[in-house]
Amino acid sequence: MSDRATQSLASPVPAEMQDLLASFQDIPTIPEVLARVWQLVDDPNSSASDLEKVVSMEPPLAAKVLRLANSPYYGGRGRVQDVQMAITSLGFQTLRNLAICLSVASSLGNPRPQASIVDHRALWQHSVAVAVLARALAAEVGAVEADEVFTAGLLHDLGKFVISLGCPDAYPKVVRQHQVEGVTLPQAERAILGFDHADLGRAFAERWRFPERLQTLIHSHHVAPTGGMERAKHVLRLADALSYELRPVRILGIEEEHAVDPRDLDQLGLTPEWVDDARERLAARVCEAQEFMNLL
Ligand SMILES: [Fe+2]
Ligand SMILES: [Fe+2]
Repeated sequence: MSDRATQSLASPVPAEMQDLLASFQDIPTIPEVLARVWQLVDDPNSSASDLEKVVSMEPPLAAKVLRLANSPYYGGRGRVQDVQMAITSLGFQTLRNLAICLSVASSLGNPRPQASIVDHRALWQHSVAVAVLARALAAEVGAVEADEVFTAGLLHDLGKFVISLGCPDAYPKVVRQHQVEGVTLPQAERAILGFDHADLGRAFAERWRFPERLQTLIHSHHVAPTGGMERAKHVLRLADALSYELRPVRILGIEEEHAVDPRDLDQLGLTPEWVDDARERLAARVCEAQEFMNLL
């Protein structure tokens, strides 16, 4: 974990990664509708009716917005009948997060069966769990933008999706290296590919023009936080580690372990006892949020 800590976030893209990025030239860019939704959500003068106009141009998104608003988790229970009402009841940030997930899922598509050992559904489940935990932790510790860390949670492992699609042969080798050499998975990725999924996730987030702060959070989720935004970085790292404990998933076909880093707890003013106390209620949040997941 520490060997990348000193690496500059602005370091040039390694040649190996350039090749992989080039091989992805055919990947559709993130749809225009997401860019518009993002813009409107950030604009304090925009209204639910402005967003409704954009969302309605993308029928699959509109349908999912309605379905989510009517889900038990959001309390609609079948009463929300039009998109504008759905947007109002979900809130703008939730709409943006839904649009992000659907755009990324449709842009990266699904791997051909047997083409990759990465279980994309498990990876989404993990991503949603990290998002929910990050938001819950932000509310708990304060002074962290809850919606920002939620989005970062959804996208932090974006690079794993890209590697599994662009280099389907890489992960079996990465897993072998991890098991034989006892190195961490990001270290094994760097040994096999020359970069890790955090580097690649940032490169894609940049290519898709996601906000710079989000790029930074994606890039730094496996290193000790430095260089600004530390609180958000600690929250994301803690949420990532806790998610493996609270909702074990087998993304790469093996049991992955991410122990909670005591430095993250420390810097957020939390203790291991707090984690023990909060475990049940955090796990309940993760279960509820699978509603979001079921839409992908
Ligand atoms: Fe990761
Ligand atoms: Fe993760």
